[in-house]
Amino acid sequence: MYDISYSIMSSQESINQLQAKIDYMSQFVDLEKFIKGDKNSQKQILSYYRINHWAYKKFHSQDGFMHFRISKNGVYSDQDVYHQPNFISQFITENAKVVELGFGQGSNIVYLANRHPDAQFYGCDLERLKKKNPPQNICTFQQDYSTLPQFEDNSINVVYAIETIVHNTDKEKIYKEVYRILKPNGVFIVYDYALDADFDSFNPHIQKVIALISKGGAAAIIESLEQMHAHYTNSGLTIEQDTDYTREILPDLKRLEQKAGKIMQKQKLAKLMFRCLPEQFVANIILGYLGYDFGNGNVGSYHEWVLRK
Ligand SMILES: C[S@@+](CC[C@H](N)C(=O)[O-])C[C@H]1O[C@@H](n2cnc3c(N)ncnc32)[C@H](O)[C@@H]1O
Repeated sequence: MYDISYSIMSSQESINQLQAKIDYMSQFVDLEKFIKGDKNSQKQILSYYRINHWAYKKFHSQDGFMHFRISKNGVYSDQDVYHQPNFISQFITENAKVVELGFGQGSNIVYLANRHPDAQFYGCDLERLKKKNPPQNICTFQQDYSTLPQFEDNSINVVYAIETIVHNTDKEKIYKEVYRILKPNGVFIVYDYALDADFDSFNPHIQKVIALISKGGAAAIIESLEQMHAHYTNSGLTIEQDTDYTREILPDLKRLEQKAGKIMQKQKLAKLMFRCLPEQFVANIILGYLGYDFGNGNVGSYHEWVLRK
């Protein structure tokens, strides 16, 4: 089990670790070359998830959940994956119309649709829904969710997006579209990452970490909390609640760090993997290797936002 309560590191120790990890990886991989190039085009996002489909199932969740577990007592439990859908569930009233942006392997939308059989669920993702026999009250669209012409103005009660907006560069375009389709007083729930300060304020080593983590997860450069909040309010949304769950995802990040660390420790194996395996598969290992210290070192944070029209 991954109980982090006995092994808590100070944030400065994590910052030191990040620098040491970058120096270590630089011995066998050209990190600059790795960071450069196409990272979050829709083609890249699709190929990232296709290549890592197996890895997500094997190392993250057999049930196809792709988000982090929120462990409130510092001890990892597989069941903590239900925090996000259970929280969203509280906002779904009878006969509600609900939209999920970026449903991934479809586990959240299927779980919620089964829990709310009277509500109608719509899901949008670049990939098609691959779940067998999804409930009748789900309708999915394979499309970019930045434009949602199939939904009328003021027609949707709840929109939610779990760890997906981070892939996109033009966030306000998405938020304005969500604002348009939400009914007055409708709710938009977002789980995503933010930097704890402006990118430019971090030293070059940490900037490299941020670029690697972004590249590792096929994300746009992660924005600061301040920038994220400005995007929400510029789009007309009101921030009703902002909960920082960084500490609570550390046990899950620790678990992934230990798995990635086993590969990284064997330099010959890591070198071979970097050379032979698809770049996006390797990128995901780097993400796992750096993620814990990124959160614990107060470089980035993980949030649950409740936004209201
Ligand atoms: C990390 S997965 C999250 C899956 C799911 N929300 C979960 O928590 O299990 C992110 C998903 O967002 C999708 N995605 C990212 N940007 C998108 C866009 N602009 N339009 C549609 N889907 C997008 C990706 O294809 C991927 O399936």
